[in-house]
Amino acid sequence: MIDFREVTKAYPNGTLALHEITLHIEQGEFVFVVGASGAGKSTFLKLLLHEEVPTSGSVRVGAFELNSLRAQDIPMYRRQMGVVFQDFRLLTTMNVYENVAFAMRVIGARGKRIDRRVTYLLQLVGLEKKVRCMPNELSGGEQQRVAIARALANNPDLIIADEPTGNIDPQMSKDLLDLFVRLNEEGTTVVMVTHAHDLVRQYNKRVVILDGGVITADGGLRAQGGIPDQNRGGQAAPAYMTQTIPPIPPLQEVPSYHRRPRPVAPAEGRQRTAEEGLPFPWELERMNQAK
Ligand SMILES: Nc1ncnc2c1ncn2[C@@H]1O[C@H](COP(=O)(O)OP(=O)(O)OP(=O)(O)O)[C@@H](O)[C@H]1O
Ligand SMILES: [Mg+2]
Repeated sequence: MIDFREVTKAYPNGTLALHEITLHIEQGEFVFVVGASGAGKSTFLKLLLHEEVPTSGSVRVGAFELNSLRAQDIPMYRRQMGVVFQDFRLLTTMNVYENVAFAMRVIGARGKRIDRRVTYLLQLVGLEKKVRCMPNELSGGEQQRVAIARALANNPDLIIADEPTGNIDPQMSKDLLDLFVRLNEEGTTVVMVTHAHDLVRQYNKRVVILDGGVITADGGLRAQGGIPDQNRGGQAAPAYMTQTIPPIPPLQEVPSYHRRPRPVAPAEGRQRTAEEGLPFPWELERMNQAK
């Protein structure tokens, strides 16, 4: 699904952010990208989003060869993705609800469908009480959760997340990661940059380590014998470690969902439609029991 071939990125000021990166990510994979600050992680994601273009080498995502992507095709290209940016990028003139709803309107969703889904997503990330708040009335962790809800709005095939739990306390980080893992089990490809190595260690997923713009390790965590803690040396615990945020409501207790008639589960191998949305609570229970 994602193919980086000898990709080098030098910024105009001469900084070499990535050097001859070659990487293949299959559809349906879950990949953590870790590495010290400045290692090139965000640059890697920006190339994936076609926000930056490589200095040399090629990036292919699905059917799109990004070097030859036409400007008018960029929005269509990005529609398949749900993105959580490191700096959130919420629309400051819109409230929480509208920030998520807007992402759905852009792709042509209308009316009740938007309302049901936005309500559900905001409950999923524990923000049902902040629906009418403006972004500047939210804490960092709350803004980050709005960004996560927005990224999930359109059932993306690919979730790209740049430190999506950077401002969120450990328990909620784990809950959100569990949500990503479930979406991944449903077929969504997930590429997640994170500094939360303790969290990464709890999941046996593929881990790509970037160091100074090159890939120094790539593979299962067990195969790598754990991740070296490269970037916390001597630093104080980040603020999010001491902040308390109410936990995400358990999935099966999301009320608006229970009032809806239960749809027929999609047949094996069929893509869930946007209307069917995220896995339903009872499906998640089944999936958990099946483990
Ligand atoms: N727009 C830019 N112009 C010039 N240099 C840049 C630009 N963006 C990033 N860089 C540089 O490229 C290198 C990689 O940056 P990048 O943002 O990819 O790091 P990162 O791994 O995401 O770090 P962090 O963990 O701090 O987010 C750094 O040296 C950074 O200073
Ligand atoms: Mg970054």
